[in-house]
Amino acid sequence: PVRPQINPSILSADFANLERDLAAIATADHVHVDVMDQHFVPNLTLGLPVVRRIAEVSPVPLDVHLMVEDADRWAPAYAEAGAASVTFHAEATQAPVRLARELRAGGVRAAVAVRPATPVEPFLDLLDEIDMILVMTVEPGFGGQAFIEGTLPKVRRARAAVDRAGTGTRIQVDGGVSRATIARIARAGADVFVAGSAVYGAEDVAAEIAALRDLAAH
Ligand code: DX5
Ligand code: ZN
Repeated sequence: PVRPQINPSILSADFANLERDLAAIATADHVHVDVMDQHFVPNLTLGLPVVRRIAEVSPVPLDVHLMVEDADRWAPAYAEAGAASVTFHAEATQAPVRLARELRAGGVRAAVAVRPATPVEPFLDLLDEIDMILVMTVEPGFGGQAFIEGTLPKVRRARAAVDRAGTGTRIQVDGGVSRATIARIARAGADVFVAGSAVYGAEDVAAEIAALRDLAAH
């Protein structure tokens, strides 16, 4: 199996000390950047100017998670802003394949996210068009929510389809990932783990990243 990736979410960082809090996760695989527009989700975070600066100072590549309406219009700009991967929501695009192709043509990895009640099946026939599937394990919008157990079968079905297709498509989970849940989610087949409150709420951030990575590998 591939080495699990841990992507801390800066949603749980101190927004007045972003540079410090980015430096603290230098041992992570990516920094997960949650962009929210107050329409697709009932929260507002940050946009292009802030993402550009994060890209300049971050010690690790950017995994940008767009929780915005009209992803077809906005996602390509986040590729240009310095993201390594751009995740858009299935519920916010009219043309996921066209958008994924556009992102890839811009040199970034393209990923599709599904909310807990959105089926992943339509994308399992399109795996060679995308680099990663994000199975949301909470309703998007806020950090610190409880993991939704009912999302695990979706992770399992995505894993089975990816293994069958042999595309190496990554399966990411986001929401409620902690020491208490990560091993179970890894066994269901996820290989990229977003963790906000678990990482930034820890006494020792680097130790928490290492602990999560270790638990995900078993
Ligand atoms: C929620 C965001 C998540 C959030 C996860 O909408 O997409 O990335 O930061 O936070 P935790 O890990 O605290 O559930
Ligand atoms: Zn996220």
